[in-house]
Amino acid sequence: MKIKKYLAAGMVCCMILLLFAGCGRKKPEIPVKIQAGIIVYNQSDVFLGELVTCLRQQFEELGSGDLEITVMVRDAAGSQRTQDDQVRELIDMDCNVLCVNLVDRADPSEIIDLARENDVPIIFFNREPVAEDMMQWEKLYYVGADARQSGQMQGELAADAIEADELIDRNRDGKIQYVVLEGEPGHQDAIIRTESAVDTLKSRNISLEKSGTGIANWDRAQAQNRMQQLLSQYPNQIEMVLANNDAMALGAIDAYHKLNYTETALPVFFGIDGTEAGLEAVIDGRLAATVYNDRKGQAQAIAKLAVAAVTGMGMSDIVFENEKYIYLPYQKVTDENVREFLY
Ligand code: BGC
Ligand code: CA
Repeated sequence: MKIKKYLAAGMVCCMILLLFAGCGRKKPEIPVKIQAGIIVYNQSDVFLGELVTCLRQQFEELGSGDLEITVMVRDAAGSQRTQDDQVRELIDMDCNVLCVNLVDRADPSEIIDLARENDVPIIFFNREPVAEDMMQWEKLYYVGADARQSGQMQGELAADAIEADELIDRNRDGKIQYVVLEGEPGHQDAIIRTESAVDTLKSRNISLEKSGTGIANWDRAQAQNRMQQLLSQYPNQIEMVLANNDAMALGAIDAYHKLNYTETALPVFFGIDGTEAGLEAVIDGRLAATVYNDRKGQAQAIAKLAVAAVTGMGMSDIVFENEKYIYLPYQKVTDENVREFLY
């Protein structure tokens, strides 16, 4: 009996000792592993496809030292329900940080609830949630770019081209007949890019006459379709095409080729993004200019922030706007500097 008591007392002492030893030991600063889940609204989107490639590279680079990083990518293929399920799945698979490109930027509540319940920080990117949703939890961040700046730059590039080349005004009526190809309605980049591009042209005293607008949801094939319709309404009358992104600008060019317009009968085309195909088109002169949407810088910021959000490492070096936003600047791309953007 006595022996048992001594034994029990001894065990309790050992446990207390172990407990203290445990408390005294410094917590490891880096968790063993970073498991990043990346979910994209639609991977057939050209810009997003290229951004995800950059993001994989960035994680690979950061993971080559002491950190072990694994990355899992999911494509929501345009469905918010699918995306919500993918968030659940990735959290179940022990992802400890999520990079989310929302399908519906007005509907992130379910994702935010899931992340908060499991204490998994989220970095939203490219499709910006509204401010009230971003306030729901302190571990929500956003990485993107300022839409107004891209529209302004597109407007300036177009104004420069029009001032430099009087032949752009083909019918010599002193006005530029133009069409706009717009991205997805409700996307923070679509309306603002259009408005600020047109306002910038007007502020440069360029007289404009709008022939039409087409919504083509960022997509090359849809833009081609819409442009063909516009051309059947205004054959040979359009002098400039402003597209909210490169894919749609290239779709508009496809329409002219499909309808057998000769090179000399083409209007000037302006895009935004500087995708690989967009940059190629600037090099060979099919696009007059584009605006670089800094996918590499965005990917770098997302990857750094993901590591910081999990480990705390490097968080104090990150410069935020309003504590949780990072906006990378756009840059103008013309045939003079386009080669700087190729890599
Ligand atoms: C890009 C588009 C892209 C869209 C997707 C925009 O910022 O310019 O090319 O389709 O984001 O959300
Ligand atoms: Ca004209």
